[in-house]
Amino acid sequence: MGDRIFASAKSEKARSGLAASAERNAPALLATDGLSIRFGGHAAVDGVSCRFPPGTLTAIVGPNGAGKTTYFNLISGQLRASSGEVWLNGERITHLPPSARARRGIGRAFQLTNLFPNLSVLENVRLAIQARSKPGFSLLRLADDATEILEQAFAVLGRVHLENRANIAAAALSHGDQRKLEVAILLAMQPRIFMFDEPTAGMSVDEVPVLLDLIEAIKAERQHTILLVEHKMDVVRRLADRIVVLHQGRLVAEGDPASVVNLPIVREAYLGRSALS
Ligand SMILES: Nc1ncnc2c1ncn2[C@@H]1O[C@H](COP(=O)(O)OP(=O)(O)OP(=O)(O)O)[C@@H](O)[C@H]1O
Ligand SMILES: [Mg+2]
Repeated sequence: MGDRIFASAKSEKARSGLAASAERNAPALLATDGLSIRFGGHAAVDGVSCRFPPGTLTAIVGPNGAGKTTYFNLISGQLRASSGEVWLNGERITHLPPSARARRGIGRAFQLTNLFPNLSVLENVRLAIQARSKPGFSLLRLADDATEILEQAFAVLGRVHLENRANIAAAALSHGDQRKLEVAILLAMQPRIFMFDEPTAGMSVDEVPVLLDLIEAIKAERQHTILLVEHKMDVVRRLADRIVVLHQGRLVAEGDPASVVNLPIVREAYLGRSALS
């Protein structure tokens, strides 16, 4: 295991910058295989096998308590599986900690926990850009890098329409703007997988469209594999290429939106009634 990490670190270094950046930009294939976690006797996620096609947006739906957030936690590493596997581009990442999964490109928006509240909006984004920057320190490169990072930070803030809020503390933003900043931080880290768990929850009605437009724009680039947990069916219909339905921890249906939303099992599961009795 240690040897493998060492070997891959060496080969990463040996790759040309161009090849490495082409690879970073390639949409990643994420998959789970029989993924399960038990809390006491209760299987919150129960044998979920699913592939997330590169460059597509998959909506994960299901009633409250279906296991959607737990499934996300198993993919991003906040929880360890009781059994089953998580794969990213052919690498088994099931037992890696969240930080190692993030380095491999799994980007997850957490509700506000990614933010440094006392730092400015700009500093929050700059830190995220620096966190993904190449290791090593060169005084000669420093000035160039600082300018480049600033430009990148403003470009990212522009995408989420926060460039006019750059110098105020993250804590002083409205709730909706904090969610946008969170997406900006995620964008700055350039993940290959984007995971959004009810991204519009708690947002005011007038703030929701901006965030949905942003997710749609990320999807339109077709450079990312996006997982979206969302309760609002109109949002799911608008954004999803595919829908995966969880119910009582199990995957009970998957497919394109038009066929999935009309399945009786989905209508029942989504309304919270017993779909499997
Ligand atoms: N850390 C934990 N310890 C014990 N049980 C847990 C834990 N986390 C989740 N659960 C249980 O696992 C089940 C799935 O919860 P989860 O939060 O994943 O559902 P969800 O589909 O995200 O629901 P919601 O739509 O309400 O967000 C629930 O029964 C929940 O009580
Ligand atoms: Mg949840």
